Amino acid sequence: MTYEELMEKAIEASKKAYTPYSKFNVGASVLTESNKVYSGCNFENASFGLTICAERNAIGSAIADGERKIKAIAIYSPNQDNCVPCGACRQVISEFCDDNTEIIVKIGDSLKAYKITELLPERFSL
Ligand code: THU
Repeated sequence: MTYEELMEKAIEASKKAYTPYSKFNVGASVLTESNKVYSGCNFENASFGLTICAERNAIGSAIADGERKIKAIAIYSPNQDNCVPCGACRQVISEFCDDNTEIIVKIGDSLKAYKITELLPERFSL
């Protein structure tokens, strides 16, 4: 699975987003240590704070299938280039990644990869 292919999965997932309130669609696809891919989209609620981000939706599916290590996560929004994860998702990603993990976003026709330490220099941990 190339990062371009992983991004294609995220693009597909973004088409399933349920966003009647923000109209801001996001798709995310996670590549795990065992080379499986899990995708998710954001889904909103009339009680706005209950909204689930695409990244956490995709990671939840991976976890529910027994996966624990993220090699890469691609994130895509048709509404915004360089759609980096929100702070809450950065913390959740950090639980399941290391500094080799690539956090991939799309900027025009190009992909850009971030490390978690760039996006979240000081993660909360126990
Ligand atoms: N959203 C995500 O899915 N991921 C992020 O990292 C940032 C925000 C969603 C939540 C909400 O449905 C919409 O984007 C606007 O905030």
